[in-house]
Amino acid sequence: MTRLDANDPNSRMLPGQQRDQLPSSIRLSEIISALSYALDLTEGQPMGHSVRTCMIGMRLAQQVGMSAQEQADLYYALLLKDAGCSSNASRLFHILNADEIRAKGDVKTTDWTRVGWESLHYALTHVATGMPFLQRMQRLFQVAATQQQDSCTLVKIRCERGSYIAKQLGFSDSVSAGIYNLDEHWNGRGYPDGLRKQEIPVFSRIANLAQTLDVFLAARGPEAALEAVQKRSGRWFDPELVKAAASLAKSGALWNSLDQKDLLGNVASLEPEHRRITANEDSIDKICIAFAEVIDAKSPFTYRHSSGVADAAVEIGQWFGMNAKSLKMLRRAALLHDIGKLSVPNSILEKPGKPTNEEWTVIKNHPYYTLEILKKIPGFERLSQDAAAHHEKLDGSGYWRGWGSDQLSRFARILAVADIFDALHAKRPYRDGIPLEKVFQMLREDAPRALDLPCVEALIASKTNSEPIAFVEPEISFAT
Ligand SMILES: [Fe+2]
Ligand SMILES: [Fe+2]
Repeated sequence: MTRLDANDPNSRMLPGQQRDQLPSSIRLSEIISALSYALDLTEGQPMGHSVRTCMIGMRLAQQVGMSAQEQADLYYALLLKDAGCSSNASRLFHILNADEIRAKGDVKTTDWTRVGWESLHYALTHVATGMPFLQRMQRLFQVAATQQQDSCTLVKIRCERGSYIAKQLGFSDSVSAGIYNLDEHWNGRGYPDGLRKQEIPVFSRIANLAQTLDVFLAARGPEAALEAVQKRSGRWFDPELVKAAASLAKSGALWNSLDQKDLLGNVASLEPEHRRITANEDSIDKICIAFAEVIDAKSPFTYRHSSGVADAAVEIGQWFGMNAKSLKMLRRAALLHDIGKLSVPNSILEKPGKPTNEEWTVIKNHPYYTLEILKKIPGFERLSQDAAAHHEKLDGSGYWRGWGSDQLSRFARILAVADIFDALHAKRPYRDGIPLEKVFQMLREDAPRALDLPCVEALIASKTNSEPIAFVEPEISFAT
């Protein structure tokens, strides 16, 4: 009987590649800034939006003389302002019956609190866009009738989730309150509690103004951005903060270096020096778990998928006899493998029936975004490649790069098997989980052509508490 043992997870890595070594010290802010790019995708904003919002917000805080102590907390409230964004995506999609990411992106440049052409145009271009005319009109009237109540519910879901995540990560009450009240308006017409003026925490007032400035900056340029917030001063925004923004804009300091490539370096330099938090193994794990929950909250179709894949991947790794350090990195890669899925609208994720070619292209791009986001984390360079290869197949028939056996590392092969296993076996809203025996049969049918045979057999052996069957591995010699 062959005992699977691949203690070297670097096996089958490309020449010159090395397994990630975490730098001796990483700042917590470096990890959270990098992962905030995923939140931008769900919000329909250009990647880097949260980081730019943080930079603008920190400049406003300095301009109004906020203490360094408070600035240290504000920094994380700004970076995590959209942490709850995925939790209302499915609900919004079902209300609009259309692409909710586009709707979320465009609502930020719409003054929807005033009834007029702007809000009507928004409704016409974002509600039930693919439906026949009569059904569309019907849906529009339904949306209009329940708009206030729905908006409040959607914001509440989002802010409760976001503030919960901040607490889960160990941040202070003021950070989570800043996130919770992000959508309150100065005149009391915001959500979820209709707070007015100074009742709204200053972190939320700064974050709301800063995010609006960045959205308009990206869409219409700096002059239009300032004009937009001045128009809403006293309604949406604290007039004193708008004045501070105008004064910073006049000197040019407001927009400084927001268009530079090294955004992450720039935002890192704005974290108050005395409170810079160094990440440890524990805090990195906590962040990975929190973001896995953000990913899984996007759709009931993917509920608990990331943690399911992580459990299966670690079981395979354990059968290979991987050491604790490798298992830790494998779990992190599995927890975050689908982070790029935050770029896929729920109108596609939850579509009954087959996706169109265009929709399929969007789906196939999600591992590309996984790579783009994870590679920004110091020490995750190799892990990001493995995580982004979870839909690749040994025979080159997978996506998004069509990589083949020569390019797929041990980690990538494990993730591919764990991903399919969880997708088939987990219960979904539209079906029960496929029974284990059937799933094993399906996995074996694809190995070794598309899936890695040792990984498949290790998973089956682990799930059935048995010895893996003997097999001949032509490319790797396993220790016996
Ligand atoms: Fe995926
Ligand atoms: Fe997946």
